[in-house]
Amino acid sequence: MHVPRGLLPDVLDRVRFLTDGEVASYIPQLALADPEGLGIAVVSTAGKVYQAGDADVPFTIQSVSKPFIYALALQVHGIEEVSTRVGVEPSGEPFNAISLEEDTGRPMNPMINAGAIVVSSLMEGSNAAQKTESIRTGLAAFAGRHLDIDEAVYESELETGDRNRALAHLAHAAKVLGSSVDVATETYFRQCSLTVTARDIAVMAATLANAGRNPVTNEQVVSESVARWTMAVMAGSGMYDASGEWLARVGLPAKSGVSGGIAAVDPGRFGIGTYSPRLDARGNSVRGIALLETISAEYGLHVFAHHGGTFDPFE
Ligand code: DON
Repeated sequence: MHVPRGLLPDVLDRVRFLTDGEVASYIPQLALADPEGLGIAVVSTAGKVYQAGDADVPFTIQSVSKPFIYALALQVHGIEEVSTRVGVEPSGEPFNAISLEEDTGRPMNPMINAGAIVVSSLMEGSNAAQKTESIRTGLAAFAGRHLDIDEAVYESELETGDRNRALAHLAHAAKVLGSSVDVATETYFRQCSLTVTARDIAVMAATLANAGRNPVTNEQVVSESVARWTMAVMAGSGMYDASGEWLARVGLPAKSGVSGGIAAVDPGRFGIGTYSPRLDARGNSVRGIALLETISAEYGLHVFAHHGGTFDPFE
């Protein structure tokens, strides 16, 4: 596949007219984002970085962190152990839903808050500071650079986080939390407040696309089997209650966040990061969706696309 040089600026111009949606405001600090921000970065598994627009504008990672933290937990504890605490079934529900399995109390999947808080509680360390450091170090390995916490967003998360505390209490009652409620939620709020750019989340996605090896730094961050499992779970539940339609329409494992980022993976080929803060009713970036829909359609990136020819295994 050959991508023409002017593709990324051109595709930004094609979605710029979209002004639907609202910048998230349930966390007051998020409402300060520039609604017009628009950027994209594409990182190939060969380690080449292409970017256009506001690809270096910082924003808090929010839920885009969830698949990467999940991958780190799988790497440390193993798929079987983590799966006793959090499932892999799409919930079909909003990100902050009380989405727990009836019999076990396990959260349905790690891409919604209930599951993500459990995953944060499983990070290495015996208190929130140590667990936060494990997250910061792990996400930095995915991004290939040091990441800082936006303290103002963190404070804002703390003030508005009662629903997340309630989810953590339910997980604790079901005995699936790996720490106290306070440690789990503080770690989760700090995780959401780490600052990244569209370029960073493209490198992070490219690391999954590249069998767990960061193609820019060449560091093996997680194993191939962990990367594969994580991409599969992203494909099933990364876009919340829009996940089914997303997989059918765009066909790339992806994860969105309320600050306007989307990380998408074309396994074996690319990581893509987009940034545009206005969100649709399900909490996904309006222009981010349009960018990824456009690129996927024009370049045949859908994971279930047929690339021509036939196959006979006995030939
Ligand atoms: O309220 C929360 O849990 C956020 N700090 C993170 C949520 C998020 O990004 C969900 N995504 N769309």
